[in-house]
Amino acid sequence: MTKLERLQNAYNPESFRKDGHLLIDKLANHLNDSFNNTNKKTLFWAPPEDELTYWKDYLENETSESFFDNLIQHSINLHNPKYIGHQISPTLPLMGLTGLAMSILNNGMGIYEMGVAGTAIERVVTDLLCKHIGYSNESTGFLTAGGTLANLTALLSAKKAFGNENHSNLGVMVSDQSHYSIDRAITIMGLSTANVIKIPTNKNFSVNVSALETSYAEAKSKGIDIFALIGNAPSTATGAYDDLEALASFAKEKQIWYHVDGAHGGSAIFSSTYKPLLKGIEHADSVIIDGHKMLMMPALTTALLFKNENHSYNTFSEKADYLLELSEHKEWYNLAKRTFECTKHMMSIHWYAIIKHYGVSIFDDFVTTLYDSGKTFAKLIGANPKFELAVKPMSNIVCFRYFDSDLNDISLNTVNETVRQHLIKEGDYYILQTKIKNNTYLRCTIMNPFTKEIHFKTLLNKIETIAKTY
Ligand SMILES: Cc1ncc(COP(=O)(O)O)c(C=O)c1O
Repeated sequence: MTKLERLQNAYNPESFRKDGHLLIDKLANHLNDSFNNTNKKTLFWAPPEDELTYWKDYLENETSESFFDNLIQHSINLHNPKYIGHQISPTLPLMGLTGLAMSILNNGMGIYEMGVAGTAIERVVTDLLCKHIGYSNESTGFLTAGGTLANLTALLSAKKAFGNENHSNLGVMVSDQSHYSIDRAITIMGLSTANVIKIPTNKNFSVNVSALETSYAEAKSKGIDIFALIGNAPSTATGAYDDLEALASFAKEKQIWYHVDGAHGGSAIFSSTYKPLLKGIEHADSVIIDGHKMLMMPALTTALLFKNENHSYNTFSEKADYLLELSEHKEWYNLAKRTFECTKHMMSIHWYAIIKHYGVSIFDDFVTTLYDSGKTFAKLIGANPKFELAVKPMSNIVCFRYFDSDLNDISLNTVNETVRQHLIKEGDYYILQTKIKNNTYLRCTIMNPFTKEIHFKTLLNKIETIAKTY
């Protein structure tokens, strides 16, 4: 075969049709098996070196027909109700279709011509998010690849707004429960992580509002100029929401940027029950919300919303005559002027398709169900003397540990770590662990709306059995 014939073969629409139908059938079966938990492990565990060998051998020795079957079998299964691990959505099946369309259409999105529909759709989606936050018509936003990048972009805007661009002793204030992406952003910005002033938290792991003034004064005494205050909505480790209203007042008083990291729980703007947790979010200069965490979308898609649209244009100002002809003009439709990315996934279609098919009320259904499940799980834990909650959950993130009054903290840490290792290798349930006040706690984020009381009970029984044999 010639080069061209081989390419024609690879681009053959009829093969795509046939393979595509087969794959959709496979994935539909996978979803069915996952929800009904038939012969399905949540986590396929293998030591990294073994898995590497497997895929090296597979490339050499196997035919491509079995690729997707093997891939499904070896992948962690987010649709299994026993997945109670990291904060990533079990995607709506509809997302398989938008993902497919996105990959084939492959619109680059950097400039309007490279994403005519995707760009307009992105505007519709981000305007809708601004409205739900409670912003006025002066607001705007865009989508970007993940919370980490969105936090960085927001802080870059904040620094620009503060003015003193070349000042190296700038800093931010955030609770001691903040996500590490804040520290990373500060490093990328060429500032010292020592200038990330960690405000102490209260016993619920929300920011201690009465410590704000002291933290600010301490920073000042070290010569650090605070340019932004960041609120957690909620924190990653324990799912604690900060008092966003109090933080807003403080930021206003000090005339500094107020950013809300709502990567996980900013989505509660849609919840009929839990929206009050976000009281004060409407005062934030910028807010981030991850679609791939609590809104059933595939990774990565994050909305970065600005209260004042001018700020969204100030972050970047590079000249690129081949791409952005009128570099100095505000053009909402040329997204690369405002996003870190040049080429970007046509990610807006995930958001739009969900809203179009099911209405925004499905976001309420999802967030409210999961946060309610957090309470259900915590109640079961609280009722069993063999377990100890780290804190009463405010969201769907629940931290607890196996507890035995005869054991000291060091032994309890070992027991809980052993339990998790056992669970990982077994692969039935997938949960995490974290350190809270130097002790090991098991950390669960209920991401699947079909995780029910029976799953929680079975998990607790399993943990108790493993811990007792230790
Ligand atoms: C509060 C918070 N902010 C930011 C991030 C980073 O988001 P991403 O993983 O989308 O980069 C996370 C991720 O867990 C998070 O929990």
